[in-house]
Amino acid sequence: MSEHLTVVDHPLVQHKLSIMRDKGTPKVLFRQLLREIAQLLAYEVTRELPMTTERIETPMQPMDAPTLDGKKLALISILRAGNGLLDGVLDLIPSARVGFVGLYRDEETLQPVQYYFKVPDALDQRLVIAVDPMLATGNSSVAAIDLLKEAGATNILFLCLLAAPEGIARMKEAHPDVRIVTASVDEKLNEIGYIIPGLGDAGDRMFGTK
Ligand code: URA
Repeated sequence: MSEHLTVVDHPLVQHKLSIMRDKGTPKVLFRQLLREIAQLLAYEVTRELPMTTERIETPMQPMDAPTLDGKKLALISILRAGNGLLDGVLDLIPSARVGFVGLYRDEETLQPVQYYFKVPDALDQRLVIAVDPMLATGNSSVAAIDLLKEAGATNILFLCLLAAPEGIARMKEAHPDVRIVTASVDEKLNEIGYIIPGLGDAGDRMFGTK
């Protein structure tokens, strides 16, 4: 583990992830577990948010009570599988601003092409958390971070469920300033870019497509 990479090895996260990996797990349970893990990962990544105090009055006496400081953070879902993580993170941080990045892979060039981009304003003043369950080759994740930086983001964290060593290396090379937080670093990618042992296609398992 380095500053660039945090693996959340909490027993609850790991137990839930094992159920998600099982190919017999139905999609309703898969989605529910992804949401629960997202809550636990969000708890971890928000540990160092800046704090201030606000003067309040308890029923007993006034006090300077700790509250979050600064602008609301921005959650960016990388479509479409990102939406599964987004829901859980929003459970924990309901006032976060939300954006979406849509990318598809051009079958000829194999490069990611943008088809949708809508993000909150003042990204330069917010902690930006980009969410995508699978960091596989890293091509689309790196492209999404490129776009967020072009839109002004400077403080970016990438939150995923599973990461392949190849994707981590690609992200580190392209964006050494972006911290990756994940529940697991798996063994490798297969020849068509799927994570091994992984859990299959996260979007298909979430939405029941093939
Ligand atoms: N995307 C997925 O959904 N699964 C993988 O294994 C790799 C990329």
